Amino acid sequence: MSLAIKVLTLFPEMVRAVLDASILGRAAAQGRVAYTVADIRDRAVDRHGTVDAYPYGGGPGMIMMAPPVIETVEAVRENDAAPLLLLTPQGETLDEALVHELLAEARDAGELILICGHYKGVDQRVADILNPREVSIGDYVLTGGELPALVLIDALVRRLPGVLGNSDSADADSFTAVQDGGLEGCWYTRPAEYRGHAVPEVLLSGHHAKIEQWRRDEARRRTRERRPDLMEEENRPARDDGESER
Ligand code: 6GU
Repeated sequence: MSLAIKVLTLFPEMVRAVLDASILGRAAAQGRVAYTVADIRDRAVDRHGTVDAYPYGGGPGMIMMAPPVIETVEAVRENDAAPLLLLTPQGETLDEALVHELLAEARDAGELILICGHYKGVDQRVADILNPREVSIGDYVLTGGELPALVLIDALVRRLPGVLGNSDSADADSFTAVQDGGLEGCWYTRPAEYRGHAVPEVLLSGHHAKIEQWRRDEARRRTRERRPDLMEEENRPARDDGESER
């Protein structure tokens, strides 16, 4: 069954361009996912296409009005149980665990709806009335929720069965269970030597067990060096330098 992903935005051309390209576009062409990009401006409050206004009480910037956003959700939603997300820097931070959770909910419902916030913010009554799950993609501020929505969609769609060419490759990525939640190791391809830099000998040895061991060691070394915060607590260098149990 195909997953319906519906994006509500003031910049539909920006969203569509990304959804139509590369692996996200191919997933739709294969019928594994179906994208709807709804223009919030189609439900503007007047003939001038007004969708935002100054904040009550004053302050800088414009606020997205509640009625166009809420009415667009109501127009596109087919399943009231479908997850509804509002992309905002005030939301919970996206990580691979949240991607998995949202994917499971979306597949159960057959539908996922994403609201892209813009301008200074969105009228609080959107959250009060629709009770969306608020999601951020990290601690920095972007001009709008379109890129975050696309980041989230990319992270979801690549995990749908059949979307990636090699079904194994998604599971071996950084942050997934196969890597114990850590980073991936490094990769080499032809040529075997370039400007005096040779590919590690073990990779040319044909010893599959040794190669797997080398990759696991490499992944663990990288994680310890670059992201010790991702290591399982008992393996973290700050607390314990290698000796696990006593
Ligand atoms: Cl979801 N929106 C905006 N505007 N900025 C962000 C973000 C979202 N996540 C991180 N920065």
